[in-house]
Amino acid sequence: MMPNLPSLKARKGKEKITVLSLYDYTSAKLLDGAVDMFLVGDSLGMVVYGLDSTLPVTLDMMIAHGRAVARGASESFVVVDLPFGSYQESPAQAFANSARVMIETGAKAVKLEGGTEMAETVAFLVARSIPVMGHVGLRPQSVNAYGGFRVQGRTAEAAEQVLADARAMEAAGCFSIVVEGVTRALADRVTAEVSIPVIGIGASPACDGQVLVLSDLLGMAERPAKFVKCYADLRSITREAVQAYADEIRAGTFPSADHCY
Ligand code: KIV
Repeated sequence: MMPNLPSLKARKGKEKITVLSLYDYTSAKLLDGAVDMFLVGDSLGMVVYGLDSTLPVTLDMMIAHGRAVARGASESFVVVDLPFGSYQESPAQAFANSARVMIETGAKAVKLEGGTEMAETVAFLVARSIPVMGHVGLRPQSVNAYGGFRVQGRTAEAAEQVLADARAMEAAGCFSIVVEGVTRALADRVTAEVSIPVIGIGASPACDGQVLVLSDLLGMAERPAKFVKCYADLRSITREAVQAYADEIRAGTFPSADHCY
């Protein structure tokens, strides 16, 4: 059965929440129900479109991929990322674009990056029936402000800001937050100090759940990040399969009688 907001929130500290970032119908259909939540992340900018960052990802791109994933999901709860520039201007802008995502994709919730500065916006959305997942710590949409993708919260002051961000997201009404790219000690504190489920990536095993990008955990990435565990080597498997296909075409052994009408 597909989880819902109350059932996900009730799992805090009791049962781990499994989350997968993915972007297409075929994967969603294959993996429906294997994890609690599908996140259609704006990481698709890099993974699917070969962009340097998530910043050029548009709302239309998120809606197209969100719709594809939602079509394949009847057991996993679907969350779609709001891309850079689609929600930071004002609560009204965030509502208009979140409503488009919910209506046009069929997703159950949106995710946005931010902390104390986004609290008013999150409260505005939640009060208008848009479930929101927060995203604190390393926020990829802020890569230019950081000067690169860097682990966040390494100083006491920076750690306090991440904690304040997480508390602000909780107080504003987020049903869950992602904490990304922080020290394990800080992720432990965030998880202990907020009452909503904290989903970690590059964070800590103590988080209430974990998220990874599907192609990363399948071993498709050329240079996986330290926080990625590869559960398969699909890079090699895919290359070998395509090589065998090409070899058989050249040898005239594909298609065989079995593949002809
Ligand atoms: O964009 C994304 O896929 C994400 C997750 C990795 C948390 O935000």
